[in-house]
Amino acid sequence: MAERDILLKILDLARWAPSGDNTQPWRFEIVAGDHIAVHGHDTREWCIYDFDGHASHMAHGALLETLRIAATAHGLDAVWARRPGTPDTAPVFDVKLTDAPALRADPLLPFVETRSVQRRPLQTTPLSAAQRAALQGAAGPGYSVELFESFAQRRRIAGLLWDNARIRLTCPEAYRVHKEVIEWNARFSEDRIPDQAVGVDPLTARLMRWVMQSWERVDFFNRYLFGTVAPRIQLDFLPAILCAAHLLVRAERAPVSLEDYVHAGVAMQRVWLTAESLDLRLQPEMTPLIFRWYGVHRAAVSRSAGVNEAIAGVAAAVDAILDARDTGVFLCRVGAGARASARSVRQPVSALLAS
Ligand SMILES: Cc1cc2nc3c(=O)[nH]c(=O)nc-3n(C[C@H](O)[C@H](O)[C@H](O)COP(=O)(O)O)c2cc1C
Repeated sequence: MAERDILLKILDLARWAPSGDNTQPWRFEIVAGDHIAVHGHDTREWCIYDFDGHASHMAHGALLETLRIAATAHGLDAVWARRPGTPDTAPVFDVKLTDAPALRADPLLPFVETRSVQRRPLQTTPLSAAQRAALQGAAGPGYSVELFESFAQRRRIAGLLWDNARIRLTCPEAYRVHKEVIEWNARFSEDRIPDQAVGVDPLTARLMRWVMQSWERVDFFNRYLFGTVAPRIQLDFLPAILCAAHLLVRAERAPVSLEDYVHAGVAMQRVWLTAESLDLRLQPEMTPLIFRWYGVHRAAVSRSAGVNEAIAGVAAAVDAILDARDTGVFLCRVGAGARASARSVRQPVSALLAS
């Protein structure tokens, strides 16, 4: 039985796990000295990027893996299981902690808090053989890691992201999300993404803020003033070229159940922490996989016919370039570079404890 203080310390570190748009779709309950319950939720009701809750489920996996890593600092072995009967929209994960005096602190432990998304250009210096091998081994059993490193591959992926960004920026349902999740004039944000971490220059950020005040402005800007061009160059095209590699985590078996996505999130977090341990920065590039999923699983996603038509074509494009098929679960870019000077931080543990 661990002291409550120790459990709070573990949760204080675990909460640094990443989640889509920093939504932190979890609340914690200390049930007993050897038992923490993680109450999950998802954001599918309002967030198009959550694709049926799966991005939240991946975040749950990242959280559970980070909790496990944090527990090793205290000689505790943490094993989680989904509580039977809890719904996909509000899954509960029971984490049981057992004393394991021989357990060594996990080698990824020092990187939990410094790991952060870097959305700005990275160095194109090729990965070393050691970095490549570490990343390829990082995702764990049941997953493989593919790297796309050559200039030609990065250029093709840049084109894919350029096309995807047009969908993102012209989709009225995505606009609502962007408006919700950006905290303006901020370097750090506890519950959203600070505008300074988005990856555009300050002038573009000011313009974006003004334009994003209404969908009518966004639509007008996009239609008549080439409004998607500046953000697409800065946020998608250039960063996709300016990196060492794009990295695809692939599952042996296409994910279907909530647990499959939670496990994919464990793999994602292990890759991300491993990149950080190699002094490499990382940025997820999930929209091609998310729009691919919608194209395969949903007839209509948006009230915009043009967006629906574009989404229907994403699977063919993604598979031609990445061969992602249904088994690609996490796409990102990596490379050496400075740590992000602006980042999402987290809500305090006290706010995340279920009452
Ligand atoms: C499942 C998942 C998908 C994400 N997709 C993207 C993405 O497509 N583009 C991006 O820039 N960041 C993406 N992120 C990064 C989150 O926005 C980021 O992790 C969160 O805001 C917390 O910030 P931090 O990682 O710097 O701590 C994703 C994160 C997760 C967990």
